[in-house]
Amino acid sequence: MKLSVLKYRFLFVWIFFVAIQAKVFSEPDNKTQKPTKTVLLTGAAGFIGSNCLEYLYDTHENYDFIVLDALTYAGFLENIPPRILNSHRVRFVKGSVIDDSLVDELMKESNYVIHFAAETHVTRSIADDLIFFETDVLGTRVLMVALVKYSKTIERFIHISTSEVYGTALTIPMNEDHPLESRSPYAAAKVGADRLVHAYNCTYDVPVVIVRPFNNYGPKQHIEKLIPRFITSALNGKPLTIHGTGEQKRDWIYVKDVSKALDAMLNIPDFSIIKGQAINLGTEKSVSVFEVAQLILKYFNLHETQIKFVSNRPGQVDNHVGSFKKAKALLNWEPTTSFEEGLKETIKWYIDHPSYWKKLEGNSVVPIKTSANQIELQ
Ligand SMILES: NC(=O)c1ccc[n+]([C@@H]2O[C@H](COP(=O)([O-])OP(=O)(O)OC[C@H]3O[C@@H](n4cnc5c(N)ncnc54)[C@H](O)[C@@H]3O)[C@@H](O)[C@H]2O)c1
Repeated sequence: MKLSVLKYRFLFVWIFFVAIQAKVFSEPDNKTQKPTKTVLLTGAAGFIGSNCLEYLYDTHENYDFIVLDALTYAGFLENIPPRILNSHRVRFVKGSVIDDSLVDELMKESNYVIHFAAETHVTRSIADDLIFFETDVLGTRVLMVALVKYSKTIERFIHISTSEVYGTALTIPMNEDHPLESRSPYAAAKVGADRLVHAYNCTYDVPVVIVRPFNNYGPKQHIEKLIPRFITSALNGKPLTIHGTGEQKRDWIYVKDVSKALDAMLNIPDFSIIKGQAINLGTEKSVSVFEVAQLILKYFNLHETQIKFVSNRPGQVDNHVGSFKKAKALLNWEPTTSFEEGLKETIKWYIDHPSYWKKLEGNSVVPIKTSANQIELQ
């Protein structure tokens, strides 16, 4: 055989193999490629929502996101890192969950919804509760109406309720059958929303799950809330003010553990296992407010004389410890961050981001009538 014919044969075989390889490597395997899902997150310019957005964005390349947030005093675009906010996978819409035509338009495009948006600060609800019922109850109703309309295309709706719906623990740890004995207007509004979602499931058979997280903490939480308030007071050399005796106990859960639980709910292969359920996200441990102050002061080598006791806040919950048995059984989820570990991460974050919290200092207290019947800034 002539050398040139051999050369051509070799060239032909080489081209054939290159073409096959290119096909193998460039064409996605239809069996493994996941379908794109559009996830609507309400209130994701706030603390938990923005942490969850970051977690889901980095975990699921096949998710596109719509963020609907009214950017109230508690919502900040800076809570969403620029690499996420400016990504083609994310669309930010400034607007309210009360706006039914806007909600309708966004729900129409969505496959999954996580509804975080709410007025969230107990003390503010004592000062003025109307907006709590408007946003938390009526806003949730607007979403439920749209869910009924688009229940063929919306596959999963996660409603973020709260452990505050239970009030003070009657049994420990508190499970999902604990009576709903809300003790503040905020908690009552959240009960309204929680039961509304339950009722829509019973009446319209919509794909919902109700999540009741205990006290979240972590990066990007507004300094009106206890842990960031203590951390930033310590950083500023100001007293750590405790309402009442400080013996009130809370079940503190790190925000990343909550994001992981919500991810598990979006991805549970058979949603009917959790559909219509209320599920706690707790740690089965509690730490008192006084102990939290002590741990933070210890981190900064400061003395306990920096703690200042003020009148108790009315409607206070004395004790909270949440069971995670149901979440473990249904989702194989359990919290993995110890309080000491999560607190250190949180303190480091506030040390590294002074510009984040310094701008909030003027907007972190409200005047309320205390249990001693006096008007105090709390
Ligand atoms: N932080 C906690 O410890 C905790 C614990 C359990 C449950 N929750 C629940 O988790 C959810 C998120 O809490 P968070 O701590 O992140 O709250 P947050 O106050 O930090 O954020 C709330 C977000 O909702 C937005 N928002 C308020 N009203 C709105 C409206 N009408 N339309 C659209 N957006 C609106 C705000 O701009 C903000 O971005 C809430 O439903 C809250 O009740 C919080």
